[in-house]
Amino acid sequence: MRLLVTGGAGFIGSNFVHATARDRPGVRVTVLDALTYAGSRFSLSAVENSIEFVKGDITDAGLVNRLVAESDVVVHFAAESHNDNSLTDPWPFLHTNIIGTYTLLQAVRKHCVRYHHVSTDEVYGDLALDDPGKFTEDTPYNPSSPYSSTKGASDMLVRAWVRSFGVQATLSNCSNNYGPYQHVEKFIPRQITNILSGARPKLYGTGKNVRDWIHVEDHNAAVWRILESGEIGRTYLIGADGELDNASVVGMILELMAKDPDDFEHVTDRAGHDLRYAIDSSTLRDELDWQPRYTDFREGLLATIDWYRENRAWWESNKDAVEARYQAQGA
Ligand code: NAD
Ligand code: TYD
Repeated sequence: MRLLVTGGAGFIGSNFVHATARDRPGVRVTVLDALTYAGSRFSLSAVENSIEFVKGDITDAGLVNRLVAESDVVVHFAAESHNDNSLTDPWPFLHTNIIGTYTLLQAVRKHCVRYHHVSTDEVYGDLALDDPGKFTEDTPYNPSSPYSSTKGASDMLVRAWVRSFGVQATLSNCSNNYGPYQHVEKFIPRQITNILSGARPKLYGTGKNVRDWIHVEDHNAAVWRILESGEIGRTYLIGADGELDNASVVGMILELMAKDPDDFEHVTDRAGHDLRYAIDSSTLRDELDWQPRYTDFREGLLATIDWYRENRAWWESNKDAVEARYQAQGA
């Protein structure tokens, strides 16, 4: 199989490429990544001899067309992915997430190539903190931020290209991922690297907002299940029943890093901050026989803390710029 992975130098994409190289030696991987601030060649160092890396933009129709023509399957991870950035400058989100997806869809349509679209549960908006319900495949789209609205728009394009043009596509909407190689702008790596840099974790607002955490390896295993056995045109929700409020996550990080439980700061809340996400992944479990393997969040978090401790060179050069950006926002 010739597999084209967009965004393979980012957090989830690089973990996907590692897992593919490790578990599926028969798959020939090409990564297409623009190496924005969020992408790093170093995230692929361990596999650089077994993959092809192309630095380029998913909105470059000529390049995308050529690479798709040489592929059997495309898995599309590339995106502008951070909500806070989308509030300060939405344009790159429209460009990459919408025009980039459109460009890929036109190419897979032309060359009849199987396509998997990686998306987020944030397209569904949020749930009340006391709502017993969870998102399902039938929950109406109701995105809150420029990030989630552009991801929702990209999902809609995929569905339209399946129906109107017979594109062979599947979609997945996953909850919040954690694990190695996640950019230090995101919640969990930011808090770990704050402590490793002698600063305090920063909690937005009350810290009661809930996220449904899944280990990145479990997300990527689900994407492979969908590639192998998913039904064309279907959307699958990926989640591991990992609901926790942000204050509890900060508390756990402080404890695992031997800090005082009060050693954090409350900072300005995010505008439009979604309250709670929660995924019902029973379709994926029942129909595609997928199960999460990293079910002990504490253990996964400890391994993630160890990874950031042992890989300072991977993140340290980005840390100051990220914190300067947050400081300008009062966060
Ligand atoms: P990331 O920001 O870590 O990585 C994105 C990658 O895409 C980077 O390597 C970047 O260089 C590349 N990229 C950005 N714009 C590009 C362009 N125009 N052309 C080519 N490459 C470009 O993101 P991530 O957290 O790994 O997320 C990957 C995908 O998974 C995204 O589609 C995101 O919406 C989705 N997702 C993320 C999460 C999560 O918790 N992080 C959860 C569910 C879904
Ligand atoms: P984030 O990692 O940005 O993911 P998302 O916005 O996609 O859920 O944030 C996760 C949660 O953590 C979210 O509720 C916002 C909160 N948060 C903080 O409390 N402090 C921080 O420094 C950051 C970056 C996020």
